[in-house]
Amino acid sequence: MSATNTSRRKSEKNSILMEYLEEDFVKGSPLFTHNHDAMCILDLDMKVVKVNSAFETLSGYSYLELKYMELQSLFPLDKDKVFQNFERSILGQVQSYDCTMTNKLNDTFEIKMISMPISVLDEIVGFQSIILERTQTHEDLLNSEKLSVSSQLAAGIAHEVRNPITSIKGFLQLMKAEVQHSDYFKIVEGEIEKIEVVLSELLVLANPNDANFKNENLKSLIENVKTLFHTQAISNNIKIDVSYDFENGILLCDRNQIKQVFINLIKNAFESMPDGGTLTIESKHYNDKNIKISIKDTGIGMPQEIVKKMGQPFFTTKEGRIGLGVMLSKQIIKNHNGSVQFWSDTNGTSVEIILPISLLSLKK
Ligand SMILES: Nc1ncnc2c1ncn2[C@@H]1O[C@H](COP(=O)(O)OP(=O)(O)O)[C@@H](O)[C@H]1O
Ligand SMILES: [Mg+2]
Repeated sequence: MSATNTSRRKSEKNSILMEYLEEDFVKGSPLFTHNHDAMCILDLDMKVVKVNSAFETLSGYSYLELKYMELQSLFPLDKDKVFQNFERSILGQVQSYDCTMTNKLNDTFEIKMISMPISVLDEIVGFQSIILERTQTHEDLLNSEKLSVSSQLAAGIAHEVRNPITSIKGFLQLMKAEVQHSDYFKIVEGEIEKIEVVLSELLVLANPNDANFKNENLKSLIENVKTLFHTQAISNNIKIDVSYDFENGILLCDRNQIKQVFINLIKNAFESMPDGGTLTIESKHYNDKNIKISIKDTGIGMPQEIVKKMGQPFFTTKEGRIGLGVMLSKQIIKNHNGSVQFWSDTNGTSVEIILPISLLSLKK
């Protein structure tokens, strides 16, 4: 379709939207006008066409100021996120996500945005967004406080416990040769190994911000992680399918941290498939600025209550684990200006990571 045709089509859809707002929408209008939640209607260019008074109060702007304003300008800190979710709404999906809004006085606050397409005669002509002020802010605050305290604690404990463990291991080796009950040693050694696993996870938590950003080839990074799981995949009867829609996807990232994210997520996927299955890792250009990597398993999945808890520090459903993998991964992705989302049902779990492409690959 030519550019003029597309813009003509857009303006036709715009008039359909206006007609709909004037006629049909009026019937449900008390729900819109008098709603305590901030609501707005957008056209296909993401421009504001109608707001309720709760929206004016929340944003600090009057309707006249807001009219034809691009929605993203109210979200300068989360512009890309809002845009990406909007693009998904265009495909007809309802989107619900957390982001940071900035009002006229330049105050910022966390909100939950629910955005849904408005269809007239099966064609999407605009969008309705509902903005909920996040009541969980207090909970988030607690989580981040818990996180910073736990990072410091983790570092302290890990360093303090590591040295004695190493010396206990050494002396055990020496004693093993002299004592008869060598079975006991196996048990003690097994327990020490478990402590070491926990310590190594705690140590990663200790330095999440010590990043060393460089331009890295995503394909080689993923292939590298795949090799790490090769033997385990064979012994657990898991097939690993990897695909890319590019050769040279370059991320500006800390290679070890992004590797750690993939390792954490793939480990979880493996642990969800005790009887084998398929792990699919797919990397694609998401738009001209971002790459999307999805990691899917055919494992046991998890109920929605658990999906909601993903990323809380020390949340685990597994015996002998510490529940830091997802939290750490989310933290790392956030530090890379990316986003991560989880979906799960009884057919398995799917994780979608969106990361910005380095300017280097944009030039190619
Ligand atoms: N791919 C997955 N399939 C099913 N459940 C998962 C998956 N990934 C994470 N989970 C759930 O989320 C919890 C937290 O994961 P994580 O933070 O990695 O901690 P841990 O693996 O130490 O339990 C897990 O205990 C599990 O219940
Ligand atoms: Mg884990």
